[in-house]
Amino acid sequence: MFSHRTDWRLIPNALTRAIEEARASGQKILDLTISNPTEAGVRPDPEIVLAALANPEAMHYDPQPRGLLQARQAVCRYYRESHEVFDLDPERLILTTSTSEAYSYVFRLLSNPGDEILVPKPSYPLFEFLADLADVKLVPYPLLYDHGWQIDVDSLYKAATAQSRAVILVHPNNPTGSYVSAAETSVLNAFCGDYGLALIVDEVFLDYAHDGVLRGSFVSNAEALTFTLSGASKISALPQMKLAWVATSGPEEMVREAGARLEIIADTFLSMNAPVQLAAPVLLDQRKQIQPILLDRLRENLAELDRQLASHPSCTRLQVEGGWYAVLRVPVLGTDEDLAIDLVRRTGVIVHPGHFYDFAGEGHLVLSLITDPEDFHEGVARLLQVVGA
Ligand SMILES: Cc1ncc(COP(=O)(O)O)c(C=O)c1O
Repeated sequence: MFSHRTDWRLIPNALTRAIEEARASGQKILDLTISNPTEAGVRPDPEIVLAALANPEAMHYDPQPRGLLQARQAVCRYYRESHEVFDLDPERLILTTSTSEAYSYVFRLLSNPGDEILVPKPSYPLFEFLADLADVKLVPYPLLYDHGWQIDVDSLYKAATAQSRAVILVHPNNPTGSYVSAAETSVLNAFCGDYGLALIVDEVFLDYAHDGVLRGSFVSNAEALTFTLSGASKISALPQMKLAWVATSGPEEMVREAGARLEIIADTFLSMNAPVQLAAPVLLDQRKQIQPILLDRLRENLAELDRQLASHPSCTRLQVEGGWYAVLRVPVLGTDEDLAIDLVRRTGVIVHPGHFYDFAGEGHLVLSLITDPEDFHEGVARLLQVVGA
């Protein structure tokens, strides 16, 4: 009855079951995996946001496949003001309801069934489902950790085949928090040139550099055909508004053709709604209030983690440059999943095991740094009593 591409495991995994049991038992739960800012007590101004959504112009339907011009202009303004990109033409943008939708458009644009997309490992777990739905195969290329993360270029070259269509970059990566360096960008552009590949760059966490130093956006990358994905879900901590985009850059002729094809994909669905598009300038402007608050919280939680780790030398934190997560290296006594289950049962603390993100070995736990600082403090203390003993 059903397609092979939806042959997913439909029953909750052992960790999800353990979390449900812990919640049902009435135990105090400290969830250190929260990545939904609306559940972490960090919210843009409700009055301003809700007023912007009540624009009477939204009663008129103007079906624009690339998205309403004023919304795309607001995205250009974001790049101009926050990333010093002064020449982004709104014609190079297609609005989508989420970066997930943007991925699916780009996968559909580039790949035939069975084609391959190179993905970093470890990285964001949703890629697997997005790839299944687009009938493409993910081929991992490793990120190596040695006083910071870097792309294993030799392995990247070895991973390329005649079926490869694109390389995904997550800038900065989830959960390693590593940005793609300028040297890596040159290598990647050359690699794409050698193999005729496109770059798909996920920049949802671009603005969250912990050191406050501006990192360059790939929207200006002109050497290879590049699709840069981002949106208000992380930029303005407004995931519920469903405002995202894909920006195309690269050799002019390819950009023009990619844009024309993407426009037809977008026109087929016309998934953007009018209120959100009309509110886009206000929604994106909310970043100016919310990002400093979030950055303070990320830094505060990271400092608290380091403070507590100082008395638990068996555990260490891996270096992180940006984003909303920290990776903890812990002694390996079993699988990370068993450890996460044991933690929730014994302490009520929820963390993500490294294997959710496809870490190469055991001994990695992932913590969300946007967690409420009191919960974070207590959760880390409980966690270290178990894993740091
Ligand atoms: C790397 C990465 N990309 C994309 C997303 C989701 O973004 P959106 O809400 O726009 O689909 C997430 C969500 O956590 C993410 O971690």
